[in-house]
Amino acid sequence: MQNKQSIHGAWANRWIFILAATGSAVGLGNIWKFPYIAGENGGGAFVLVYLFCILLVGVPIMMAEVLVGRRGRQSPINSMRETAYEAGHHGRWAGVGWLGALAGFFIFSFYSVVAGWVLYYIAGMGSGLFIDIGSEQAGQIFNGLLADPQTLLIWHTLFVVLVMMVIAGGVNKGLERATRILMPLLFVLLFVLLIYSMNSGYFGAGWDFLFSFDTSALSGEAVLEALGHAFFTLSLGMGSIMAYGSYMGKKDSIGGTVLTIAALDTVVALIAGLAIFPIVFANQLDPAEGAGLMFVTLPVAFSQMAGGQVFGFLFFLMVGFAAWTSAISLMEPGAAWLVETLGLSRVRASILLGVIVWALGVLALGSFNLTSDLLVFGMTVFEFLDFLTANVMLPLGGFLVALFVGWYLTREMTEDELSLRSSFVYQLWRFVIRFVSPAAVAVIFALKIYEKLAA
Ligand code: TRP
Repeated sequence: MQNKQSIHGAWANRWIFILAATGSAVGLGNIWKFPYIAGENGGGAFVLVYLFCILLVGVPIMMAEVLVGRRGRQSPINSMRETAYEAGHHGRWAGVGWLGALAGFFIFSFYSVVAGWVLYYIAGMGSGLFIDIGSEQAGQIFNGLLADPQTLLIWHTLFVVLVMMVIAGGVNKGLERATRILMPLLFVLLFVLLIYSMNSGYFGAGWDFLFSFDTSALSGEAVLEALGHAFFTLSLGMGSIMAYGSYMGKKDSIGGTVLTIAALDTVVALIAGLAIFPIVFANQLDPAEGAGLMFVTLPVAFSQMAGGQVFGFLFFLMVGFAAWTSAISLMEPGAAWLVETLGLSRVRASILLGVIVWALGVLALGSFNLTSDLLVFGMTVFEFLDFLTANVMLPLGGFLVALFVGWYLTREMTEDELSLRSSFVYQLWRFVIRFVSPAAVAVIFALKIYEKLAA
C-alpha cells in the first residue's frame, strides 16, 4: 500500500474532487458541441450510441486514468513513467503523457477561441446588442464577430488570462477555489434555464428529438463522432482526469467517484439539449444548424421571448463558467509537469503556458478571417485541430491508457488502487479495460478508415 502525496496539494475532500472533475468534464463539449452534433446526426440515434460509449468506454477508461494519477501522484507524464517503473516496464510510457499534453495545447487553442465568443456574447447580452433581432441579424452579428480578428483577439486573450490566473494559484488556492465558487453557480443557472425551457411550450418536441431512437439515421461517421465526443466530454485521453486524480484522497473509492462524475456530465449534456432544442423548435429554427446553433439560433430565440435578455445573459454566463473550469483542466497536466520537472513556480509555469496557448489560439482564430484559405486536409486550422484532437488523439490516448492499465500494470497495483469491495466488479472492470474498451476504439477506427476508402 502506497501513501504518497502530490507535491502540488490535495483536494479538501471527496466531493471537491468530484466537483473539480465534473468542472473539467462539463464544458463547451456539453453545452455547445453536444447539442449541435446531436442535431447534425439526427438526434436520438446518435444519443443512444453516445450513451453506450460513455458507459462501455468512458467510465472504465476514466477509472484507469484516475488510478494511474493517484498511484503516481505526479503530472500525467511523470505518473505514467513512475507507474510503468513500478510495474517493471519501460519509462517510455511517459510518451502517452506527452501525447496528452500536446493534445491539451491543441484543444485549448480552439477551445479558447469559442470561449472568447462566449465572453463576447455575455457582454452583448448584458449590453442589449441582441434585443429584437431576427435570424438574419443574429447571423450578421455572429459572422461579423468571426470576420473581425481584433475583437476575437481581445476576448481570446481575456479568456487565456482568466484561465492562467487560476492555474497560477495552484491546486488549493486556484483550482479548488474556482471549483467551489463556479460549480454551484453553474448548477443553479442550468436548473433555472431548464425550468424556463420547460415552460416554452415545446418541451415535448425537444424531448422527442433527443430520445426517439431512429437507428436508420446512423452512419459510421456518426459512430466515430459519438465515440470521440464521449472522450471529449469526459475529458479523457489527454491526462486532465489523471492530473486531477493525483490530488485525490487515497481512501476515496475510484469506482463510485467516477460513476458520479460520468453521470453528472451526461445529465448536464442532456439538460443542455433539453434546454436548447425546445427553444429552437418554439422558434421554427433548424436543429441541424451546426456550430452556430448556440451563437445564431439561441440569440434569436432569446430576443423573442419574455425575459429573453436576462435568460440569454444567464445562459452565456453559465457557458462561460463551464468553459473556464474545463480549460483549467486542459492546462493542469502541463503546469504540474513544468513545476515538477523544471522546478518553475506556478506563476512562471502559467505565464509560459499562457503564451504558448495564446499563440496557438491566434492561429485557430485566423481560420475565420485572415487565414480562412489555409486548409489542412480540406479543413481550416480550427476544424483540423478539433478533428485531430477529438477524433484521433483522444481516442488514441485513451486506447493506450487502457492497454497500459489493463496489460502492463500488475494486477496487485490495479486491485489495490481500485479496492473494489466486490471481486466480481473488479473482474468485470478488468475484462472491459483489457478487451472491450480497446476493441471498441479499434473497431470504430477501422470502420472509419474502411468508410473513407470505400467512399
Ligand atoms: N470536457 C470538456 C468539455 O466537454 C473539455 C475538456 C477539458 C477536455 N479537459 C479535456 C476534453 C481533456 C478532452 C480532454 O468541454
